[in-house]
Amino acid sequence: MNALFITLEGGDGSGKSTQMRVLAEWLQRAGRTVVRAREPGGTDLGIELREIILHRRGYIAPRAEALLYAADRAHHVATVVQPALERGDIVLQDRYVDSSVAYQGAGRVLDATEVRALSLWATEGLLPHLTVLLDLDPVVGRERLDVSRTRYDRLEAEEADFHERVRAAYLTLAAAEPQRFLVLDATLPVDELQQSIRHRVSELLG
Ligand code: TYD
Repeated sequence: MNALFITLEGGDGSGKSTQMRVLAEWLQRAGRTVVRAREPGGTDLGIELREIILHRRGYIAPRAEALLYAADRAHHVATVVQPALERGDIVLQDRYVDSSVAYQGAGRVLDATEVRALSLWATEGLLPHLTVLLDLDPVVGRERLDVSRTRYDRLEAEEADFHERVRAAYLTLAAAEPQRFLVLDATLPVDELQQSIRHRVSELLG
């Protein structure tokens, strides 16, 4: 069976984890082995890095932040993602390289090309077969998040214009690679979004 690497991207509150869970269940019912992964924090080392990146008190310089995400990603790809793909599994992953380009590039205003190059160095150039972008107005995402949250991580706590830049960067990335990206309106009902994702995944499965 052909291995597949599928990533989900989008702002906070865009519904990535719900779509990932439902998609994983569908693929498992079809007899596929699914590895559910996330960044930051998909490994033991990553859990420690996640705590530093998201919850450390005080300032972290933008380049240091980009390097921490890249370190998490390098270890995760080498020890979880690549071995799973070599076994022929399907890897469903919450956030990947595009998150770094959007958040550290556009959000923190680092050079997008450099951030992408850093991430691709970390992953030895591994890119997903499919990236689902759940596009959402960050104001709506924040309202969804507010229902379930009492504390916000360092990125979630950023101002509205940070999240606007992240959204715009995601859409630019998707426009540049239409064959890799599936862009969906995250305000659509969960079932409708899932049908669109399954349709695209079915095509990839052949
Ligand atoms: P995530 O795990 O999606 O948050 P949560 O568990 O709260 O749903 O991601 C944590 C934050 O990290 C999120 O605000 C986006 C940010 N992030 C980056 O800035 N760069 C990256 O490369 C990644 C993977 C995430």
